[in-house]
Amino acid sequence: MRISVIGCGYLGAVHAACMAKLGHDVVGIDVDPRKIDDLQAGRAPFFEPGLPELLDDVLATGRLKFSSNMADAKGAEVHFLCVGTPQRKGEYAADMRYVDSAFRSLLDSLEPGNVIVGKSTVPVGTAARLADELAEQHPDAVLAWNPEFLREGFAVKDTLSPDRFVYGVPEGESGARATAALDEVYSTPLSLGTRRLVADYATAELVKAAANSFLATKISFINAMAEVCEVTGADVTVLADAIGLDERIGRKFLNAGIGFGGGCLPKDIRAFMARAGELGADQALTFLREVDDINVRRRIRVVELTRLLVGGSLLGKRITVLGAAFKPNSDDVRDSPALSIAAQLQLQGADVTVTDPEAIEGARNRFPELTYEEDMHRAMEKADALLLLTEWQEYRDLMPEQVNSLVRTRNILDGRNVMDPLTWRAAGWNYKGIGRP
Ligand code: UDX
Repeated sequence: MRISVIGCGYLGAVHAACMAKLGHDVVGIDVDPRKIDDLQAGRAPFFEPGLPELLDDVLATGRLKFSSNMADAKGAEVHFLCVGTPQRKGEYAADMRYVDSAFRSLLDSLEPGNVIVGKSTVPVGTAARLADELAEQHPDAVLAWNPEFLREGFAVKDTLSPDRFVYGVPEGESGARATAALDEVYSTPLSLGTRRLVADYATAELVKAAANSFLATKISFINAMAEVCEVTGADVTVLADAIGLDERIGRKFLNAGIGFGGGCLPKDIRAFMARAGELGADQALTFLREVDDINVRRRIRVVELTRLLVGGSLLGKRITVLGAAFKPNSDDVRDSPALSIAAQLQLQGADVTVTDPEAIEGARNRFPELTYEEDMHRAMEKADALLLLTEWQEYRDLMPEQVNSLVRTRNILDGRNVMDPLTWRAAGWNYKGIGRP
């Protein structure tokens, strides 16, 4: 099929490359010419395992091209809208200006029978609103909403073989046409057994909001349990293993730690609350406010634990923060709990050095007041405390003998509960985990 992908940020760049991998002819379009030049040269504008190799692979076949000219979307049968919906400044609601402007400029390139497919995470009601606009100008085109569930760090795998496809389509013949087009786009994963559910627009939009809310709720639930474990001397990691063995609960997303961050979960639950408020259904989601509060509380708690770890005052203490990205295998620092903790410690008088294998450049742009050191061993020199805040494999693999002689004082805070307390304590370290005795 001939496909256009509008917006080549995280979602769009990966989607465009993966659609070409599935055998389609794809043009990826973005208003940022620098991004387009990078992608056309096979350079991913962000760190994502497997994406550079995939870009090389599909660019060489000639099936994938990038352009900064929206008119190049002309000729495609299916147009994917993949632009961002960030949180509005000073508000919880999503900023819809990129979706609206991409959609409107796409209208000029549409041809009879085309299918527009929204993939961006949007407030419920967006697809119906855009479908009305489409019907006025292009009555024979159709809009579908096909939310994306990919995780950073696993984006290629999640796009090529997702857990499920969800199509939001209108009723009747046009809906059947949109469903058939999407089935053709995704024929390879569908033939390999990926399930697909067809729904109305509102349900499809809500599936995404609900999935992210549930994941955030799981994390905040276990973090709330960690708070209880801390005052009772219980161990939240064992608790999570034990409740996770119940198949109705499951072990995934029950890792207590410093809370969730990134470009999706925090802003999506806030946008969901804002939209529910507009619709008069806010009471149904009041628990999400608590989910958000628990998450914010985690960061405060880690600052407090660090203060205790270094003897009660942060003033002048050298703190090494291992990890800046919001999670490992990503250079994304949007709403990164690690960085927000680092900045808070610095504000309270500590001398903070941050290290990360991939995210230093992005971190420096956001928090220029912090000190950065690429070499993790150098970053740890003369530290009064090490804080493992993003669980990169190299930090998980750290052993006391590698760092014993580097630091000034043997204090370690394992913000992700990924180290073995016994090993570190046996080497004379003051080890502190989250919700662990
Ligand atoms: C998330 C959703 O998983 C994905 O389906 C959606 O499309 C976008 O948002 P992502 O932002 O890539 O994906 O990250 P994810 O792996 O979900 O992690 C989110 C945050 O939760 C990270 O900060 C992570 O460290 C934290 N987390 C995750 C925990 O603190 N504990 C856990 O058990 C799991």
